[in-house]
Amino acid sequence: MGFSFSRKKDVVALDIGSGAIKLVQLKKLSQGYQLEKFGVKALDSELIVDGTVMDSGQVVDVIKELLEEQSVQAKDVALSVSGHSVIVKKINVPMMTEEELEESIKWEAEQYIPFDINDVNIDFHILGTSESEEAKDQMGVLLVAVKRERLTEYTTLVTETGLNPVIVDVDAFTLENMFGVNYDSREDEIVSLVNIGASVMNIIILRGGTFAFTRDISFGGNRYSEAIQREFNVNYEQAERAKKGDAVDGIDPEALLNIIGGLNEKIATEVTRSFEYFKTTSSSETIDRILMSGGSAKVPNLLSHLGEKLGVEVEMADPFSNIEIPEDLFDRNFVKEMAPMSAVGVGLALRRLEGSGS
Ligand SMILES: Nc1ncnc2c1ncn2[C@@H]1O[C@H](COP(=O)(O)OP(=O)(O)OP(=O)(O)O)[C@@H](O)[C@H]1O
Ligand SMILES: [Mg+2]
Repeated sequence: MGFSFSRKKDVVALDIGSGAIKLVQLKKLSQGYQLEKFGVKALDSELIVDGTVMDSGQVVDVIKELLEEQSVQAKDVALSVSGHSVIVKKINVPMMTEEELEESIKWEAEQYIPFDINDVNIDFHILGTSESEEAKDQMGVLLVAVKRERLTEYTTLVTETGLNPVIVDVDAFTLENMFGVNYDSREDEIVSLVNIGASVMNIIILRGGTFAFTRDISFGGNRYSEAIQREFNVNYEQAERAKKGDAVDGIDPEALLNIIGGLNEKIATEVTRSFEYFKTTSSSETIDRILMSGGSAKVPNLLSHLGEKLGVEVEMADPFSNIEIPEDLFDRNFVKEMAPMSAVGVGLALRRLEGSGS
C-alpha cells in the first residue's frame, strides 16, 4: 500500500526496574547483533517500590532523559514485568486444540492463580504431551498470567513518554532469550539463571537451553542497603556506596562484610530452596551451572558464597558476549560495568529481532 520510506519498525527495550532504568536497542547484522542504543539510570529508591510506581512523573522524566541522551528514534517500546504480579507455571491440561484451549484457559488457569482470574491477562504456550506417566492423556502448557493493574501501570507510564508499548514480556523469558543468544548449552545440561535486582530476584532453570522452571522472590539489593543503613546509622545513599565497595565514614569494612555475608547466606538459602523444589517436581538431579545477573550479583563475595554453598559452578553472565559494541559509539568500560544489570534489557531488545517478523 503506497511507499514507505521509514525504516522497518525499530523497537527500543526499556527495563524499568525499581533500582534503575535500562534502555537497550540492538541491530541485527547479517551475523549476530550490534548494540545501537544503550543507557542506564539509577532511580531513587522511593520512586518504584516493590514494582509499584510511586512517582510516575519522575520516572517519566528519567525515561525521557535516557531517550534524549541516546537520540532514540524508535517509537515502539518493549517492556518487561516480574515479581508478585506475575505467575509463570507449567501446568497439565487435557489434550485439546489451541483454539479449544483459548476458550477454556481461564477455567484451567484459575486454580493456579492466587488472584481473581478476571484481574489478570493470560497468555499460554502449548509445550506438548505431558512428561509424567500419570498424566499421559494430558498436555503440558506454559501458563503466564500478569495482573492487569500492573500492565496498565507500566504501559501508561511509557505512553506518557510518547512511546507506544508493543511488547510486554516477563523477566524470566527475557533472561532465557539473553542466554540463548550468548551461550551454548548441551542437550541435557541444566543451567540456572539467577538475576538479582533491587527488590526482586528471578530464578530460572533451563534444560538444554529451554525453559523448565521459574520463581520470583521478593529479595534484592535494597535489603542490603537497608541493613547497612540500620546497622551503621547512615543514609541510603551512603549505604548504597558502601555496598558497592566505596569507603564511607563511620562504616567499618569488616563489620560491613559481616552484614553482607548474612544476606548472601539468605540468598543462598532461597536459591537452594528453589533448586530443591525443581528437583522434586522434575526428574532432574543436579544443576550443572549458575549464571548470575542483575546489579546485585555484584555484591561482594556473593558469587563465591553461592558456589561454595551449592557446590555448583557460578559465574557472572555477559549479556553482550555475542553482541558487537561499536567503539565509536559507546564507552566499553561503562557497558562492561553495566553488563550484569543489562541482562533483562538485552533479552527484551532481542525479542523483535529474532525470527522472521522483525
Ligand atoms: N557494584 C555493585 N555492588 C553491589 N550492588 C550493586 C552494584 N551495582 C548495582 N548494585 C545494586 O543493584 C541493584 C540494581 O540492579 P538492577 O538494575 O538489576 O535492579 P532493578 O532491575 O532496577 O530492580 P528490580 O528488578 O528488582 O526491580 C540496586 O540494588 C543496586 O544497589
Ligand atoms: Mg530488574
